[in-house]
Amino acid sequence: MAEAIKETVSNLIGKLSGSAVEAPREPSTEEFQSLQKKYTDAGQGHVFAFAEELPTAEKSQLFHQLSNFDPTRINELANIALNPPKTEETTSTVEPLPESATASIIDSDAADLKKWFDSGLKEVADNNVAVVLMAGGQGTRLGSSAPKGCFDIGLLSQKSLFQLQAERIQKLQELAQKTHGVQSAVIPWYVMTSGPTRKPTEEFFEKSKYFGLDKNNVFIFEQGVLPCISNDGKILLESKGKAAVAPDGNGGIYQGLVTSGAREDMRKRGIKHIHIFGVDNCLVKVADPIFIGFSAAKDVDIATKVVRKRDAAESVGLIVQKNGKPDVVEYSEIDKETSEAKDPKQPDVLKFRAANIVNHYYSFRFLESIETWAHKLPHHVARKKIPCVNPENGEAVKPAKPNGIKLEQFIFDVFPLTPLNKFASIEVRREDEFSPLKNARGTGEDDPDTSRADILKQGQRWIEAAGGVVITDGEAFGVEVSPLISYAGENLDFLAGREIKAPAILEREE
Ligand code: UD1
Repeated sequence: MAEAIKETVSNLIGKLSGSAVEAPREPSTEEFQSLQKKYTDAGQGHVFAFAEELPTAEKSQLFHQLSNFDPTRINELANIALNPPKTEETTSTVEPLPESATASIIDSDAADLKKWFDSGLKEVADNNVAVVLMAGGQGTRLGSSAPKGCFDIGLLSQKSLFQLQAERIQKLQELAQKTHGVQSAVIPWYVMTSGPTRKPTEEFFEKSKYFGLDKNNVFIFEQGVLPCISNDGKILLESKGKAAVAPDGNGGIYQGLVTSGAREDMRKRGIKHIHIFGVDNCLVKVADPIFIGFSAAKDVDIATKVVRKRDAAESVGLIVQKNGKPDVVEYSEIDKETSEAKDPKQPDVLKFRAANIVNHYYSFRFLESIETWAHKLPHHVARKKIPCVNPENGEAVKPAKPNGIKLEQFIFDVFPLTPLNKFASIEVRREDEFSPLKNARGTGEDDPDTSRADILKQGQRWIEAAGGVVITDGEAFGVEVSPLISYAGENLDFLAGREIKAPAILEREE
């Protein structure tokens, strides 16, 4: 389980994007020796154990990789991670967020929803809205080596998760243009990748011609990495010429936005509102005008969407207030009694039911202050089996049990730094907004089949609400409605009275 480690991070971030991959410059002997001394003085000299036997290019690569880290800071981090300071047992109070900081799509006044939608769409029309996709995670549980966004969940159209998101952006731009009579409404799309996902993501976007979006409005960048550390505090070597590193968690987004120039790009474009979301949710309402309008109306720095937790055992984080501050409690951190507690006001629902669906709103004003708080974010420790090379004899080690740690930051660790009056959460309908792709096909939960089914069922609901009739037969159900036809169920009146035999697909003719 992850434990929070307090430390500062500023010098530890590995190489971030922006830069093209070039053949590494060969360091001078003095440069090399000076770096080696720095690591040796810090007790991490073993990372150079095989340097002299490496071909020149690999030796240069090792030099450049290790130049990105400060071994003294890594030691500090490793030390806190492996020997967490004994803090005095303080009782923390965890409560649901106060009503003043919450709203629900489910029981909101239709007039409020319309007001938020209209004002959010106006922000899109005024080019004030950007989206950031977090796509740096490796879908290990999904059992695919390609980035999750490339995954085809088995829709009739064979669209990938990236394509569904791109088409929602496209449609929303069109809706904003039409509604507000503007020539061009642009929602710039910032895609955060990591070392392992960057190249295949870029290639996928290129091959797919950016799914019809203007390439100039898509900004692919890379989050940082941190070295993997052995259980006795040593940097692990992945090979003789490379330290083992891992992405620094989705909290790496803050440094990534700054270092990659993405935030600067937002500034130049005059962006005011940012929707940040995870890659694995096929139902994500990208740049949702209701969410933007709601957050802007509340004038908050951060807002987040939640869905009602399925049951007490569901493995999701919960949005709460902890010691009077907004926070997320991961499912692994909450005891059975708390997770099963009922709401005293509504005994048929859970007291802690606000499930985090990784759909966050940030004001640009708040992202302007990253430098003042990023160093305060804790690191979480994940104990892992990390394949490595024994620095004593160069032999490959395939560990059978966890032999080291990876350090990760979490995007939501900034929540407690935000006053409650600058934070809001809005409950949305799960069936319309959350169907994560976590597991391999056949698992029956949060897998490609449940993702596909949720898209098909949503399309069917939209058509029925518009007065169409969907004819289902046993296993055959649902309609895949292209996001290019409808962003959220609108503009389907032309189907009133029509019969559609499921499963069907409704695609826009170009
Ligand atoms: C996450 C949430 C959890 C929530 C759940 C819902 C965090 C830390 N936890 O958990 O509270 O209930 O989703 O599905 O947000 N990512 C990166 N870089 C990384 C690691 C992850 O970009 O280094 C991205 C992933 O690609 C994904 C998102 O962050 O889009 C969430 O990461 P994931 O590892 O899937 O988080 P969960 O453990 O499922």
